[in-house]
Amino acid sequence: MNNNDRVNFGSRLGVVAAAAGSAVGLGNIWRFPYELGQNGGAAFLLIYLGFVLLLGMPIMLSEFLIGRMGQANSAGSFKQIAPNSKWSLIGVMGVIASFLILGFYAVVSGWTLEYVVQAIGDQFRNRDTATLAQVFTNFSSNSYRPLLWMFLFAVGTYFIVLAGIKDGIEKSSKFLMPMLLILIIALGARSITLPNGYEGLQFLFRPDFSRINSEVVLGAMGQAFFSMSLGMGCMITYGSYINKKNQLSHTVIEVSIIDTIIAILASIAIFPAVFSLGINPAQGPELVFITLPSVFANIPGGYIWSIVFFVLLAVAALTSAISLLEVIVAYFVEEFKIKRQKAALIATIIIIVLGTLASLSLGPLKDVQVFGHGLFSLFDTISSRILMPLGGLAIAIFTGWIIDTDKIKAELSNNGKFNIKYVPVFLFLTRYLAPILISIIFIHQLLS
Ligand code: PHE
Repeated sequence: MNNNDRVNFGSRLGVVAAAAGSAVGLGNIWRFPYELGQNGGAAFLLIYLGFVLLLGMPIMLSEFLIGRMGQANSAGSFKQIAPNSKWSLIGVMGVIASFLILGFYAVVSGWTLEYVVQAIGDQFRNRDTATLAQVFTNFSSNSYRPLLWMFLFAVGTYFIVLAGIKDGIEKSSKFLMPMLLILIIALGARSITLPNGYEGLQFLFRPDFSRINSEVVLGAMGQAFFSMSLGMGCMITYGSYINKKNQLSHTVIEVSIIDTIIAILASIAIFPAVFSLGINPAQGPELVFITLPSVFANIPGGYIWSIVFFVLLAVAALTSAISLLEVIVAYFVEEFKIKRQKAALIATIIIIVLGTLASLSLGPLKDVQVFGHGLFSLFDTISSRILMPLGGLAIAIFTGWIIDTDKIKAELSNNGKFNIKYVPVFLFLTRYLAPILISIIFIHQLLS
């Protein structure tokens, strides 16, 4: 495909909606709250915000830039910009990361579908928290039911990606995102006003710095990459679909703000309820699936709320999964000249196999441990704590040191049309700060 006939997102809003659709997902509503709960609350939040600002935003801009300059998939874009070099391996690593992420992401997405059905069946009503916790454990460790949902979700994602960028991806993101936002605000308002809800807010906003250690810092960095869909070629791939007229820096700011706000709002909906109901904040992956049903069980109109919430959560997961699958499909189609349909099919089959392993690792395959992790947590850990930060490191170095500065300026300013006063700061962050910060965190982790 040459530069002119590559598909583009249809509108400015479409770009933001698709990129935010990728960023906002289970990472914000499911993963962020439990990572925060396990890593000491407010101190984690603060460090996380620092990473969004200092690493996330410049790396997102770098990815958009690389994709739009290269006009190709996550590996192909590097080849276009730096021919005959090994940089395209970053893109290949991103494709591997996409598979691993989808391997557990599809499982959790499947859980959201199960909870839609439970919500419709009014199954949260009159149940106490202990019972809801038991229900979740029984379900997630079951050998068949979660597999069925994971399978359905993967197939759904396959069909949307087949439909292509404009119709499939853009349209579905545009109106569902705002709905999700409104619902989470409303849930937060309810949660804060529960008895003892105040304690949850303290946990969330009053930092206890004694809890910071290298594990917490690495966790916060991994979460920032995961939540903003960075370091694995996703925003490179989407960047390649962004129209030349789009001001990339604005899109980065908008997407980062939306992503961060949703993660914080989700925590405001969850932690006051956690403290009010006496749930352990360091629960882990089941946190959302136990806490929010307990809230729904106790509020007027909880029936409707619960249905709408889990439907929107499933949709948020879908728009992120679409972007993950698109990384793989664009790579297969362009690098191996495979038809879109076939590429998506092959990818989906591999994802279902990985998803099956991840899901069973919470039940029958519980004892299979690699490096002290079950498979579900292994896929998550390798991708978010190793591959994504490593990809981010390489992307920052590539942008800061390899791409010609004048070309960066031309691309970001649309050949002089937009104001790019921020470029020196951007270059400082990509050249020095991001590579040094990520390296220190890695080294520190290795030594500790
Ligand atoms: N950012 C998505 C989320 O928060 C997950 C994701 C990671 C999507 C990497 C694409 C690439 O749910």
